[in-house]
Amino acid sequence: MQGHILVGITGGIAAYKTPSLLRLFVKAGYEVRTIATEHALQFVTPLTIETLTNNKLHTDLFAAVAERHTEHISLAQWADVMVVAPATANCIGKLNAGIADDMLTTTLLALNKPLFLAPAMNENMYTHFSTQKNLQQLQANGVHVIEPTEGFLACQSEGKGRMAEPETIFQQIDNFLHPKEGMGIKAVITAGPTYEPIDSVRFIGNHSSGKMGYCLAEVLARKGVEVELVSGPSHLSCNHPNIRLHKVETAAEMFEATAALAPTADIAIMAAAVADYRPAHIADHKIKKSEQHLQIDLEPTQDILKTLCAQKKEGQFFVGFALETDHEEENARHKLESKKADMIVLNSLQDAGAGFNTPTNKVSILRPNSEILHLPLLSKEETAERIVDTIFETINKKR
Ligand code: CTP
Repeated sequence: MQGHILVGITGGIAAYKTPSLLRLFVKAGYEVRTIATEHALQFVTPLTIETLTNNKLHTDLFAAVAERHTEHISLAQWADVMVVAPATANCIGKLNAGIADDMLTTTLLALNKPLFLAPAMNENMYTHFSTQKNLQQLQANGVHVIEPTEGFLACQSEGKGRMAEPETIFQQIDNFLHPKEGMGIKAVITAGPTYEPIDSVRFIGNHSSGKMGYCLAEVLARKGVEVELVSGPSHLSCNHPNIRLHKVETAAEMFEATAALAPTADIAIMAAAVADYRPAHIADHKIKKSEQHLQIDLEPTQDILKTLCAQKKEGQFFVGFALETDHEEENARHKLESKKADMIVLNSLQDAGAGFNTPTNKVSILRPNSEILHLPLLSKEETAERIVDTIFETINKKR
């Protein structure tokens, strides 16, 4: 069992997201108990909450059939951590003032375990001096505040006050209870193809789906690493709160975005299939068909991996991929040396099930002064896990 989470729910529209948060905790193996205020029950039903947590929802301080006589005390003792999501201005104010007039606020006062608040309210209510003063005083007393985000609010206005996403709340609490190996580490990953425009409607691209890069981002994020994912056009999406997605189209845009992020990264993985050439001139109109041959003059793009490896600082670990069709190991070893990378992941297109647009991959890993490491045919998720494990092992050995 991962631990005991006590979730408080107060009466804000963001309560409609709380069932998703409960699901994330339950799915990860936590035991979850819940307390809702009377107002919260205007937004979520006990049936939803009790079905998701497989536990009774507590609402009434003087319930006729209580599991124990002093449930507010026993729940506070049972919890490893408590989170109130959403936390309204009213609940935050009561907590800071020490008011205990219902099951939730009474439990909060009885609690001597770590407490997280995920405020959600209208922007004016959030920035009100009294809410801000309450939050500052609670933080000064060790309460963890999971900042609301900016965006479209239920009151039809834009502003700061949206409850943090359930994934973000889950991750902060899960990281707090189970610190991860990658916490404090930053990574930048390139993924997917690049599209190099020929004219206003056409481009040169390739078959990369981005899957390998997205899997690497996911595995690193799950280890607690803060990931910047620079992706060329891809239908894939990622919703891990540790991953920030930067969408680009061309090799030049990918270079610019990655170069801006690399100086502060501890790990860089260039998994993108970057175009080596781009049209030297982009026609500003659609090129018309004719009977003549058409020649397109191509110029080289900048090698992102090579350029950034040349600027690599002490302690940074940069990984490249090599997609080869012949003399695989020799070519990959040459890429490792000529690009001065710390690791090259070799993809051989000779191997069935490896490379572009397949759910599986078969790679070998090359590092300076090390024997080549051959991995079996695995799903791209498993391949990503093995690559990340090898990166961490190599970094730990170097230290
Ligand atoms: N790469 C890059 N920028 C480029 C081209 C490639 O960052 N403009 C990176 C890829 O992301 C990969 C590595 O360099 O990590 C090797 O890519 P690959 O296409 O295998 O090799 P190239 O260097 O392009 O050489 P070639 O195509 O001749 O094999």
